[in-house]
Amino acid sequence: MVAGLFFVSLFSLAIASPAARSNFVLHEKRDAVPSGFVNSGPAPTTATIPLRIGLFSNDFPGLEETLYAVSTPGSAHYGQHLSLAETKAFMEPTTESVNAVTAWLDSNGLTATVISPYGEWLLVDVPVFKANEMLDANYELFTHVETGKQIIRTLAVSVPEELAAHIEALHPATGFGRPLTVRQPIVTASDRPSVNADALPLAVNASCASTIIPSCLQAMYGIPTTPATQKTNSIAVAGFIEQFAQTADLKSFLAKFRTDISSSTTFATRLFDGGSNPQGTRDAGIEANLDIEYTVGLATGVPVTFVSGGEDFSDGALEGFLDIINNLSGLATVPQVLTTSYGEDEPDQSSANANKLCNAYAAYGTRGGSILFASGDGGVAGGQSQSCTNFISAFPSGCPFMTSVGAVSGIPPSETAASFSSGGFSRVFAQPSYQAAAVQTYLTALGSTNAGKFSPTGRAYPDVSTQGVDFQIFSGGVSEGVSGTSCSSPTFASVIGLVNDRLIAAGKSPLGFLNPFFYANPGMFNDVTLGHNTGCNTNGFSARAGWDPVTGLGTPNFAAILAAALAA
Ligand SMILES: *[C@@H]1O[C@H](CO)[C@@H](O)[C@H](O)[C@H]1NC(C)=O
Ligand SMILES: *[C@@H]1O[C@H](CO)[C@@H](O)[C@H](O)[C@H]1NC(C)=O
Repeated sequence: MVAGLFFVSLFSLAIASPAARSNFVLHEKRDAVPSGFVNSGPAPTTATIPLRIGLFSNDFPGLEETLYAVSTPGSAHYGQHLSLAETKAFMEPTTESVNAVTAWLDSNGLTATVISPYGEWLLVDVPVFKANEMLDANYELFTHVETGKQIIRTLAVSVPEELAAHIEALHPATGFGRPLTVRQPIVTASDRPSVNADALPLAVNASCASTIIPSCLQAMYGIPTTPATQKTNSIAVAGFIEQFAQTADLKSFLAKFRTDISSSTTFATRLFDGGSNPQGTRDAGIEANLDIEYTVGLATGVPVTFVSGGEDFSDGALEGFLDIINNLSGLATVPQVLTTSYGEDEPDQSSANANKLCNAYAAYGTRGGSILFASGDGGVAGGQSQSCTNFISAFPSGCPFMTSVGAVSGIPPSETAASFSSGGFSRVFAQPSYQAAAVQTYLTALGSTNAGKFSPTGRAYPDVSTQGVDFQIFSGGVSEGVSGTSCSSPTFASVIGLVNDRLIAAGKSPLGFLNPFFYANPGMFNDVTLGHNTGCNTNGFSARAGWDPVTGLGTPNFAAILAAALAA
């Protein structure tokens, strides 16, 4: 797919570099310290870094081809998802790669552990001085100004020439993850379109124009209230940065908003990286409660698992995102849906690491799992200040092998893009063919608007959207309203969870990687044509007929998605 354009250009730079470095090949570099960080000098000589080494898969092109074959309706292999072992056969590194890297580590007195079920990720603790030697690097201390948090990174990293064909990704190196933030913006009144009460579909309560509760989403999108029946089906909800989901809050939520089901309905918990999920008012996390309440409370009867990570990744999203996908991929049957409402800006990551994470999502799709992410709440600016000139993309929404979910408000057919909703074009990942026609139609209509501020050949996102403004939740015993694409990803996950339930009941495969199915069936969505996002002192991108980079293909029509899924 995107096989590192960045890597290729750096490679040619390395060829031109002085002879003294000729036994190293430059792997990645960053021209300057990213904004928001300052260089705080040499790393302590006693410091050790937990170095993750990503080895090339022996046949990623074969995996990608298989992913599309099992995910594209009409293909002879549609729905024929792979087992762990079959996926591993593509994803695992060659014996030659394992041996070469193991010998190199060994000669430096180091021993790595394998940290992924397919064997392509190794972890080894390396003293900083040794990492500098082994990778021709200059690991230093950098301070994140806003939080004071210090991380050890290098602005350039190389690998010995003979290992260049074996090592695909390295972390920590030039990726500067920021402390992970929850996607929950403050919403202004202007995010709500005015509603003509006479125009409301009969089933949608007028109160849904100002406050979202599960019945609003059920009415707007035709989401069934009848319980799911399939126990092998599940939705996994990602939990990070000590956001803990509370059973007491879920109970209050269900008692108030789902009087038709037992308020004792609850979720399972899975922990990784030393994670936990303590219970108590002071441990309540708004994000975690939102995500759990709008999956358990909307995907009626679908088993939901809260997957809670420890602190390992508090200096950025990459470790957390890698570890959760590696952990779930180790299961014989992966949760059919994984929803994540966390993220960061694409430029914070190295292209190599973004690619490697994205490849793990492709593997998850071949196993029959759908990866959903909130598209982000920074409009076209991401985390930049409003004085920015260039739009930036959210990470990992630029990855073509996952489904990015944006936010709208208002009642169909007048749903309107939320101005905070992130959308645009990746600068790391190339545009996948499944969206080429839809995106071209948009770009043609866009003309020269925003020209130069984005990369029109990049993977465009979001793919779809749902409501995302003023969701009522319970957190820490308090009822409150929250907004953001954080509301949208769990809502969309619930729709897919319920469709999967019906598919499994009919003896069919779950949907798995969604995008080829979605772009082939745009009529399954309520097209959103109103509103726009904002950022960099612009009106960002506008919604329009068909796909657009603020609301994607639109909001879900449950009956239409189910019918198309059963027919696929
Ligand atoms: C509409 O919503 C309001 C506020 O939640 C509620 O009081 C009212 O009973 C609802 N009306 C109908 C017809 O469901
Ligand atoms: C996932 O995490 C759990 C809990 O820490 C651990 O027992 C299990 O071995 C992990 N699985 C993989 C594949 O990493």
